[in-house]
Amino acid sequence: MDPGTIIGVGTGTTIFYFIEALGTIKNLIYGAVSSSNSSTVLLKKHGIEVFDLKNFSSLAIYVDSADEINNHMQMIKGGGGALTREKIIASMSKKFVCIIDKSKKVDVLGTFPLPIEIIPMALSYIFREMIKIGGTPKYRKNVITDNGNIIIDVYNLCIKDPISMEKKINSLPGVVTVGLFASRSADIVLIGTQKGIRTINKKENR
Ligand code: A5P
Repeated sequence: MDPGTIIGVGTGTTIFYFIEALGTIKNLIYGAVSSSNSSTVLLKKHGIEVFDLKNFSSLAIYVDSADEINNHMQMIKGGGGALTREKIIASMSKKFVCIIDKSKKVDVLGTFPLPIEIIPMALSYIFREMIKIGGTPKYRKNVITDNGNIIIDVYNLCIKDPISMEKKINSLPGVVTVGLFASRSADIVLIGTQKGIRTINKKENR
């Protein structure tokens, strides 16, 4: 790692452990850009300086986990509610490294309910649109995102074409971000197994 490196850091229980590990090698990096207020608190607790993304035009690397990932390294994310900032950082990063255990690997995305961050007044409109595409939307109670919006989780989707579904849902007025990371998929997947870490690179996967 170049000591000038700024690492993009995701959110969630997996990344909690990543931040702990990063703290032990913090002298090898310059600092981090964080995808949530909760990750910012943890990064600072481990003595890692947190920078504002708006001061950078790109990042070398983004490390995050996923709720589900398919064989094309496309993901459902947002179980932890940080999907919008996660997607912005992922889009600006040259490499996206996704850390998972094998329970997150699926053939077809959609068993995990698809999170969507929306502007509150769009709730009933987005509900109806999700029912039209065969989903069962549920309002995520008592959650306000770091951006001041709400989240719905859409159950019962069988997402055979993640890129077109990502585009379709993102184009609905009131949607801030859909938790499908298909256009910007992961580049490297690290799977924790009982025998150690299995690494999958995007090229091998195609
Ligand atoms: C946070 O918004 C999510 O995208 C997480 O990255 C994803 O939900 C995985 O979280 P866990 O590591 O907690 O399973």
